[in-house]
Amino acid sequence: MVRHLLPGLLALGLAACGGEETTAPPGPDYPEFPDHDWEAEAATLAAGPDWYRHAVFYEVFVRSLQDSDGDGIGDLQGLIARLDDLKALGIDALWLMPIMPTPFFDSGYDVADYEAINPDYGTLADFDALIGAAHERGMRVLIDLVLNHTSDQHAWFQASRSDPTGPYGDFYVWSDTPSSPDNGCGTHQAMFGDSAWELDEVRQQYFFHRFYPQQPDLNYENPAVVDATLEVAKLWLDRGVDGFRCDVIALLYESANDCGFLEPTKAYVRQLRSLVDTYPGAVLLAEPTDFENTPPYYGNGSDMFHMTFNFAYGYFWNFHFGSHDAGQIAASFESALTEHPPGAQEALVIGSHDVTRAFKPLGGEALQRRAAVVQMTMRGTPFIYYGEELALRPGTEQIVDNRDFARTPMPWTAEPDGFGFTTGEPWIAFGPEVEATNVATESGQADSTYAFYRDLLALRRGREVWGTGEVQFLEGDNETVLAFRREDGALSYLVLVNLSEDPQTSVLPDANLPNIGLPVLGEAQVTLDGDAATVALEGAGYAILRLR
Ligand code: GLC
Ligand code: MG
Repeated sequence: MVRHLLPGLLALGLAACGGEETTAPPGPDYPEFPDHDWEAEAATLAAGPDWYRHAVFYEVFVRSLQDSDGDGIGDLQGLIARLDDLKALGIDALWLMPIMPTPFFDSGYDVADYEAINPDYGTLADFDALIGAAHERGMRVLIDLVLNHTSDQHAWFQASRSDPTGPYGDFYVWSDTPSSPDNGCGTHQAMFGDSAWELDEVRQQYFFHRFYPQQPDLNYENPAVVDATLEVAKLWLDRGVDGFRCDVIALLYESANDCGFLEPTKAYVRQLRSLVDTYPGAVLLAEPTDFENTPPYYGNGSDMFHMTFNFAYGYFWNFHFGSHDAGQIAASFESALTEHPPGAQEALVIGSHDVTRAFKPLGGEALQRRAAVVQMTMRGTPFIYYGEELALRPGTEQIVDNRDFARTPMPWTAEPDGFGFTTGEPWIAFGPEVEATNVATESGQADSTYAFYRDLLALRRGREVWGTGEVQFLEGDNETVLAFRREDGALSYLVLVNLSEDPQTSVLPDANLPNIGLPVLGEAQVTLDGDAATVALEGAGYAILRLR
């Protein structure tokens, strides 16, 4: 590395267009950073035990990613055909939303058979082919594991309702009254709809359901349920999955006076983790239900989840960015970074299948890009929800519920007949503006959101600092400018984000920037004066600068 002594006062008017590290032209004002084989580093990281800390994940709704047989429904063969496109974007790992047979009352989160593949999506042989094709490319695959409830069509429930004294009689939470116990949150409400208790006409008893009435809760007080669900996990690990995204995992055990993450549920998770640990490289990812209190999901850092979604930032990023308050964003990460046990890895999102498309809140690509800059440069593992890289707009058709607006088909080409997703009639209508927001069109435009994501992911590639390096928020005199430094033994970067739409300048008195290179992404002006730095950004601007 060539280091130049910085003059006491140095002004840099810097711009970069791509995510590849810009080699600084020779000059006395900024250091040059040598080229490096980041692709080789990426391959090493992807093969190592900490692969999930350095991977970029992609959440896939198989039904909407790519149809291969013209029935208008995305499927596993379609996904296989798109792996190279995803890899070209910079994706290392996939999380598949539920792929098991389902009556589809909750888009697959109502599982009717834990041991098979939804016939709309393919067969177990297709699934094996997907795992093989992904692994051949050095990509990993997590699947959704929905253990809190099954579909009411599941054979266990059918047996439970018709044979109360049989082997499955006690597999669900039954009661003679619709009120005992309540759901533990001091109300009888389900998360979806009204009462959490539904009268079953066959058994003439009420069953408990936290979600839709078509999703009866399993009874984990019954040891046979514990065994049966651990067997499900084992079955898919044996088939080669690299781990699970565990759906509403805190809710497995019920209590009459507490609807939180109960001790017996934690004990179950430890059992699941012991099983997973017998499969080298396999990982567990929690969907927390208590957004503001995720440390319990990590246990001691090595006995529960490898990763937990940070929704405090992720789902509220519009709120944080809308506040124009760097301190608020910093605080939301800082608490997570300081309170978590060693080994905890945050999963960073700005959208998912459960919330509106990231493009929508406050409107516009410029805001989404700034949220994505933070998502991709903060310590943690980013999860991109399919279509986010296109700034896909929310759809308008509703088949299951209003979350369908974020579940529309992926437009791969500008061809109005199916947009490369299907040769048939898509199962649900495309969202608006797909003539412009599709992969073919956007990948040919230097200033598209797709190109922006590609550049951003290229900048992450092979560089351990993003996944695991230190984070230091730099306080400035302007709350609308978020500034933080990421650093490890090898690299150091400065990230700057203007949270407002107007040009902003901020003085960071204790920035103490040893060296400053050209921005590797975005644009900024940085002036150094001793330990202080003055940073200037265009309206809605952002920049990533290399320091070492
Ligand atoms: C999780 C899923 C959501 C589903 C619910 C019930 O929150 O993300 O889509 O409806 O669990 O399974
Ligand atoms: Mg199909």
